[in-house]
Amino acid sequence: MCGIVGYIGKQEAFPILIKGLHRLEYRGYDSAGVALVNDNKELNVYKTKGRVADLEEFVKNKDISGTIGIAHTRWATHGEPNNVNAHPHYSQSENLALIHNGIIENYSTIKEELINKGYSFQSDTDTEVLVQLIEYIKETNKTDLFTAVQLALGEIVGAYAIAVLEKGNTDTIIAARKSSPLVIGIGEDELFVASDASPIVDYTNKVLYLDDEEIAIVKRGEEPIIRTIGNVKKSHKIVELEVNLSQLEKGGYPHFMLKEIIEQPRTLKDCMSGRINISCDNVVLSGILDNKEKFMNARRIIILGCGTSWHAGLIGEYLFEDICRIPVEVEYSSEFRYRHPVIYKDDIVIAISQSGETADTLAAIELAKEAGAFVFGICNVVGSSIPRNTHSGAYTHVGPEIGVASTKAFTAQVMVLNMMALAIGRAKGSITEDRFQHLIKELGRIPEKVEHILKDTSKIENLSKIFTYAHNFIYLGRGYNCPVAMEGALKLKEISYIHAEGYPAAEMKHGPIALIDNEMPVVVIATHNSMYEKIISNIQEIKARNGKVIAVVTENDCKMCNIADQIIEVPASEECLEPLLTIIPLQLLSYYIAVNKGRDVDMPRNLAKSVTVE
Ligand code: F6R
Repeated sequence: MCGIVGYIGKQEAFPILIKGLHRLEYRGYDSAGVALVNDNKELNVYKTKGRVADLEEFVKNKDISGTIGIAHTRWATHGEPNNVNAHPHYSQSENLALIHNGIIENYSTIKEELINKGYSFQSDTDTEVLVQLIEYIKETNKTDLFTAVQLALGEIVGAYAIAVLEKGNTDTIIAARKSSPLVIGIGEDELFVASDASPIVDYTNKVLYLDDEEIAIVKRGEEPIIRTIGNVKKSHKIVELEVNLSQLEKGGYPHFMLKEIIEQPRTLKDCMSGRINISCDNVVLSGILDNKEKFMNARRIIILGCGTSWHAGLIGEYLFEDICRIPVEVEYSSEFRYRHPVIYKDDIVIAISQSGETADTLAAIELAKEAGAFVFGICNVVGSSIPRNTHSGAYTHVGPEIGVASTKAFTAQVMVLNMMALAIGRAKGSITEDRFQHLIKELGRIPEKVEHILKDTSKIENLSKIFTYAHNFIYLGRGYNCPVAMEGALKLKEISYIHAEGYPAAEMKHGPIALIDNEMPVVVIATHNSMYEKIISNIQEIKARNGKVIAVVTENDCKMCNIADQIIEVPASEECLEPLLTIIPLQLLSYYIAVNKGRDVDMPRNLAKSVTVE
């Protein structure tokens, strides 16, 4: 949600900020803006509704000079996306400009108080309230900007990552965070602030991460000074980024999403690397090894996540119950955090999140920790908030995922869950050594099988053309492939805006079957596994009502060729590993349908990559 970037250095700030905004655009893209202090110490703010490219157009013939600036790309929370609500926001005197990611919950009370004191507001945003409050405190207390920000944040309820610039000051950005990420980049004679590392990697790989309720004075030529809202001095280790530039570029693909789908054989290998040995006979996850007793004695596993990560969690439920014989509950983080859940001290909570910043999942983790449970994170973004706030965990190691629709992160989450289940199952003795050895070898073969599916995508591309103009889709699966059906439906709706439902196949006759007619495409995952005969019956029920069946089947399944209208083949595998294969054609199908419909695949409407508001 919302991207923030700031720069102080020897170069002109504007081109660096714009490049940074392009990198951050996946976080939100309904409006964009920039604030710069030029050499005459004037503070200029330019902002517009639309994409970063619209901002570039908007500033033509304007004064965009200055070696210090802040910039923002927005995902609207308060106030519709328009020119006025775009960030940065000026204070009343136009002496301050502020950008913000997050939500200020008590903004309306503060706004009322400020209006009574003579302040007027241009926008409908919560952000403008904060910049006005900072100015009010600065003027009434006759204090410097840092102290004013510190005092103002003490009055704020909610989440924020902010950066503030001041007219007359060509050297300093004040930055702060609570529940929204913020990183400071330390380059040669230049400093950066940003929501994530993507705008920084071109210039430096040295960063430090702010913690909640910390404020930084980022000053030209000096090391950042960090204090808490309560004025306690803090120092943070400078760490090296693991991200490299090629991971942030499309590399010749038309969309990040396609690049990320195609990358999966490699990302799955990266995810296994160092965890499954070359001879594929052992799995070593340090987060499990270090906490072996806890996992062995777990009364229950609770898996938390949102969206695609929640779907990965559902697959985790099948795995842990099947392989480890531990009871599992899978919860939407947003429901779990507010429903007064029963949590035992010997529960293990597994929080799954690509970004590591999802507000609902972070809050659910805090709740579980307060109840005394052991919390294990599965995350992709190194150094993000969830890995820093869990007891232990495992990274998915797939590199930055830029396409808003999650693809390679999902398969890696499922891969980590498989490795965890095998490690725990072996330690507990809940699977035989023979089965362990067989499964781990099959897991090792998954990347080459994914590569095989991806070798020729033209069949799925052609098939997509037949169904592009359908208004609805149903996705069905059973067992391990039931969550895959739900994930396939989510992928389709988020990027093509076609309504799609993912269901357990046998549930269809309890309601959704009423929707089936000769215009309804039904994607059925019908691989050759223990549920095969059952799913054939489900397909027959659809065919009897003239539905159009697109079946994802095991290679060379002749029987299915005669039943389904269209088939997509995947290589045979162990049932518990099938989701790693069956999701691939569904990702491609939604991608091609969205492209056929002319959708903006990487930046679909209303969505943002990292959901830092609840
Ligand atoms: C769907 C998608 C979202 C995310 C969800 C959770 O393609 O990307 O549903 O999965 O917002 O995000 P993370 O995994 O970052 O916690």
